[in-house]
Amino acid sequence: MLDRPALLVTSATHALEMAAVLLGIGAGDEVIVPAYTISSTANAFLLRGAKPVFADVDRSGNIDPAEVARLLSRRTRAVVPVHYGGHSCDMDHLRTVAGSIPLIEDAAQAIGAAFRGTPLGTFGACGAISFHETKNIGCGEGGALVFGDPSLVDRADQIREKGTDRRRFELGLVGRYTWVDVGSSYTLSELNAAWLSAQLEELPRIQSRRQWIWDFYAKELEAPVERAGGYVVRGRKDGSPNGHLFAFVFRSGAQRNHFIGQMGEKGISCRFHFTALHTSPMGRKLHDGRALPQSERLSECLVRLPLYFQMSDGDVDRVVTTAVEVLRTV
Ligand SMILES: Cc1ncc(COP(=O)(O)O)c(C=O)c1O
Repeated sequence: MLDRPALLVTSATHALEMAAVLLGIGAGDEVIVPAYTISSTANAFLLRGAKPVFADVDRSGNIDPAEVARLLSRRTRAVVPVHYGGHSCDMDHLRTVAGSIPLIEDAAQAIGAAFRGTPLGTFGACGAISFHETKNIGCGEGGALVFGDPSLVDRADQIREKGTDRRRFELGLVGRYTWVDVGSSYTLSELNAAWLSAQLEELPRIQSRRQWIWDFYAKELEAPVERAGGYVVRGRKDGSPNGHLFAFVFRSGAQRNHFIGQMGEKGISCRFHFTALHTSPMGRKLHDGRALPQSERLSECLVRLPLYFQMSDGDVDRVVTTAVEVLRTV
């Protein structure tokens, strides 16, 4: 990641909004986004007057390149892969399918993860990383816009600085700064940046602990989950994940809700995740009615186990023992 330019910004949501401005996306354009994601992935383009077109995902929650190929139209101006849980999308396939249409990566969950050795966020024109408190490292609210295309950086700097050339002024390149472009206030505060900087130094230690917990969960729980008819959400063999989240998918929503309820009664909080956008009140207004079965299944049947850096080995053991016990009852 560090060999590519990046700008610290106020959130991944704002990084995506900046990407939409940078790529000149506007009214009449279509942008293909996965249905299984957060509202920000679609809102960034909706705010510019473009239409998000929802694509289904695969078993791991990542956009399905074959579906992208079907949805491409002469209005398509960008494709937005989300690397769900830090597991890489099939970037080779997506690049082939998208051709000259830019990719904007929503790598909000993917700090430090890679596809075939290349960091996620750097494949497309630009990519968004999140430093929200729920991510592997964070500063409350924060993010980065990473550039696969370095020619976008100067303009991005102006958009981030209220549409001014203040950065050029700070570098002594102009005598005063002025309004030069459309923009907003997307710069991460120094206080947040300082907080983040300490965590960046600890990133390798944080990632390796998280991945250790992920591997342990997978080793102990894959068989019991499969006996219950479900599967563990796994990444691609050619991806290097970051231990962001451990999730599995049941056969039915009833099983998933029973599991969450029983774990909760035993003092362990497990969470579902996204509501597929095309089924949400806003998404229904935009969607053409196609069923997106895998996104719908993940909405109803996916559960995440607790996974955070400070978990002790004892905490991890307790989650596993309790999950095995509850899985026998679903
Ligand atoms: C896939 C995805 N995209 C975007 C975001 C938005 O990130 P932020 O909270 O930094 O705006 C999130 C946050 O959870 C996310 O999971």
